[in-house]
Amino acid sequence: MTQHFAVFGQPIQHSLSPYIHGEFAKQCKIDMDYRAIEASPADFATAMAAFAAAGGRGANITLPHKEAAYALCKEVSEYAFHAGAVNTLIRQGDAWLGDNTDGIGLVRDLTERERLDLRGRRCLMLGAGGAARGVAPALLEAGIAELVIVNRTPERADTLADILGEPDRVKTRYWEDLGNQGSFELVVNSTSAGRLGGKLELPFSLLAPRALAVDLSYGEVAIGFLAWARAGGCDHAVDGLGMLVEQAAESFLRWHGVRPQTQEVYEALRASDPLLQTGD
Ligand code: ATR
Repeated sequence: MTQHFAVFGQPIQHSLSPYIHGEFAKQCKIDMDYRAIEASPADFATAMAAFAAAGGRGANITLPHKEAAYALCKEVSEYAFHAGAVNTLIRQGDAWLGDNTDGIGLVRDLTERERLDLRGRRCLMLGAGGAARGVAPALLEAGIAELVIVNRTPERADTLADILGEPDRVKTRYWEDLGNQGSFELVVNSTSAGRLGGKLELPFSLLAPRALAVDLSYGEVAIGFLAWARAGGCDHAVDGLGMLVEQAAESFLRWHGVRPQTQEVYEALRASDPLLQTGD
């Protein structure tokens, strides 16, 4: 029997998730149908209800519905709870269980694919929106020494720090004071500036020697930040493509109880589009 899965978002037509999950399903010999479903915020809850009624077993949730998906869940994982957002829904009986695999996907990409050690790194998080919330708990769990959160709207940085609940390791600073914060071994861009056509003005003094810079997005919108990181002498400048593949694998594991191999899909995506050649 074919099992039905989907990704919900808006816009969704360029989503790579149907391709990624299609490849995983072939590799693991699982009969599964995975489609992209466009839903506006006003239509999201109705679209999810219709999907469940038609036998949907699970879904990925992307922008702008991750918080709305959280609200639909009867139960959520600890990662989803800390993120206040859900990127993976699992059907259990007649209810949704919510999880968030973004953070664990990022950490797996950096530690397993890129073979980088995150432990002990001083980390700067640029941005404090949904993307930052999704990955910050997993970075702390991976053993970073300190997390400094800087956001254009400082109140959001403070809210995120409060949620994370680790005042000894998590600090907030003002964007205007970025030049006085010393240097970081890990700089994560979680802002949507690139997606919105904006450009971040960042001092090179933020980058410690041999720093790792990560943009959570990929393709054209990540180019500006990664170019800055390379110009500043970063050892590694990594985009979010590997994280995308790894978070998908984590979702797949939760749905099917088997973790797919990710390297082949990752390489195929890298090779598929010149704009995806931006990671290290
Ligand atoms: P997402 O789910 O992608 O994180 P979001 O919750 O809207 O989207 O958050 C976007 C993040 O990018 C926020 O941290 C936002 O800063 P504000 O909270 O001040 O809005 C940040 N951001 C967007 N454009 C930016 C820009 N040009 N410069 C700096 N930060 C920007």
